[in-house]
Amino acid sequence: MNSDYFKTDKYWKEHINKELEEDIWINEYKNYFVGKGNCLDLGCGIGQFSKALLEIGYNVTSADISETALNKVKEFNPNIIKLDMQEKLPFENNTYDLVFANLSIHYFSDNDTKNLMEEIKRILKPNGLFIGAVNGLEGYQAIKDTAKEIEHHFWYNKEKLIRLFDEVDLNKYLLPFDILKLEKKETIRFNHKKNYWIFICKK
Ligand SMILES: C[S@@+](CC[C@H](N)C(=O)[O-])C[C@H]1O[C@@H](n2cnc3c(N)ncnc32)[C@H](O)[C@@H]1O
Repeated sequence: MNSDYFKTDKYWKEHINKELEEDIWINEYKNYFVGKGNCLDLGCGIGQFSKALLEIGYNVTSADISETALNKVKEFNPNIIKLDMQEKLPFENNTYDLVFANLSIHYFSDNDTKNLMEEIKRILKPNGLFIGAVNGLEGYQAIKDTAKEIEHHFWYNKEKLIRLFDEVDLNKYLLPFDILKLEKKETIRFNHKKNYWIFICKK
């Protein structure tokens, strides 16, 4: 099943003026962010993490499917690109020192998620890092009355496809990488509590 929710830019048209809480968790993992080289912020949204990564010292490419969001990012980072993570990523092999993805890789089928992981690995330099966060399975409680299951831990809910992860899922999808750290966290986003996993991996 496909959803046009992100392709048609509905998400950012709805959220662009909402207060986005600052949950810049990367500050807690400073020693992994060396701040040198090329970084791809995949599914950057309005770029709160792109901004933090620029401040650390990376040459950041901010990538998203949403033109609405990218127009905001353009205000502080000219290096933007519109792309669809469900397609081949438009970058050469071994381009990035860091691929970063905060809460942006949970919209895809099992097959597309596995392909995306291989694509991320392809564009990372040797020893490059893949760092990000994904929503935890606990989030199912918030959608259980309306969500229709499509695949294991993958649902269609209110126009949107959503994948939630437990530790087993993460170990499966991150198999192409060396996992350096997996950590469970809690945050507040748009006034709701949610659990998420931080992952830090190396090619
Ligand atoms: C929950 S937001 C997170 C945004 C940002 N990383 C942050 O932490 O604020 C998810 C982002 O993924 C983007 N996205 C969803 N599907 C995508 C796709 N197929 N290709 C590229 N970006 C996509 C959305 O447009 C949105 O900006």
